[in-house]
Amino acid sequence: MEFQGIEHYPVLYREVIENLPPECEFVFDGTLGHGGHAKLVLQDPKVIKYFGIDQDINIIQHFTNNVLDDRLKLYHGNFSEAPELSIPELDESKLDAVILDLGTSMSQLKNPKRGFSFLKDGPIDMRMNNSSSFTVKEWLQEASIEEISQVILDYGEDKFHYRIARAIHERIDDINTTLELASVIENCLPKSHLRKQKIHGATRTFQAFRIHINNELEVLKNSLDYFLGTLKPGGRLLVISFHSLEDRIVKKKFRTWLEESNMPKHLLPEGEYKEALGKMISRKGFEPSKLEVEENPASRSARLRVFEKRK
Ligand SMILES: C[S@@+](CC[C@H](N)C(=O)[O-])C[C@H]1O[C@@H](n2cnc3c(N)ncnc32)[C@H](O)[C@@H]1O
Repeated sequence: MEFQGIEHYPVLYREVIENLPPECEFVFDGTLGHGGHAKLVLQDPKVIKYFGIDQDINIIQHFTNNVLDDRLKLYHGNFSEAPELSIPELDESKLDAVILDLGTSMSQLKNPKRGFSFLKDGPIDMRMNNSSSFTVKEWLQEASIEEISQVILDYGEDKFHYRIARAIHERIDDINTTLELASVIENCLPKSHLRKQKIHGATRTFQAFRIHINNELEVLKNSLDYFLGTLKPGGRLLVISFHSLEDRIVKKKFRTWLEESNMPKHLLPEGEYKEALGKMISRKGFEPSKLEVEENPASRSARLRVFEKRK
């Protein structure tokens, strides 16, 4: 586990702590990562149990060997598998808070062997759970130009999706490392476009491949209703997203939880009026302060949304 030398700031940590319910006894963290949020939440002596899951086995092994706190209960797996863990506090809707801090951790991004970085050379992998499914390279070897192109369009929103897909598809057997992949992507893009771009030419494609191989958006979409169900009345779901694709899913779901109560009663057929499932804390959510972006530039695109279950 490469924690050494990595200064880690949990993203939006002030806002996370400020938005937890005042009496927090049982907390579920679906994205334990370096345990940054866990450490902060566990400073509160009222916390009885903190359930931390991560799909990266290195994270779980790290905390097994370096016990953070006896109240931290560790699980290896995807947070979408939480219903199968048979944790009574989840099954019986006793949680005070659920925290999902989506995406990759710094140790994953900075370790070239994990294949997330287009700036450091490594295998074309990008799996957060490296015991599951197949790597990006294996997927690219099987996929058609159309499939690759669709993934780059849907999850990277890159207008040159077809051109990039064709270049990768033609050369895939000779592309063995992340730097080689990044250079194939850059070389097929118009020079004028690259000059105008503020980000590296491979940024959107790498993001798209990572989201696809880890099935990130489907997992999020399919888990939010379940997590609302695990909360007790007044419990809160806190979700931190890093790009608009994730944030859109969270915002849309929170709105559907509010929707019916937003409709004037007289517009609904009699007897069909349902109360909202809770309320949103801050309509726009929370973005990092200037101070946080100075402290931790990687936090700049983060947004926290909070939903409180009906009391
Ligand atoms: C942004 S980091 C979380 C950082 C953490 N909140 C902290 O303060 O240290 C995201 C972590 O969640 C994990 N992860 C992402 N999606 C997951 C999922 N669907 N299920 C389980 N773990 C996930 C990643 O492996 C990574 O370790």
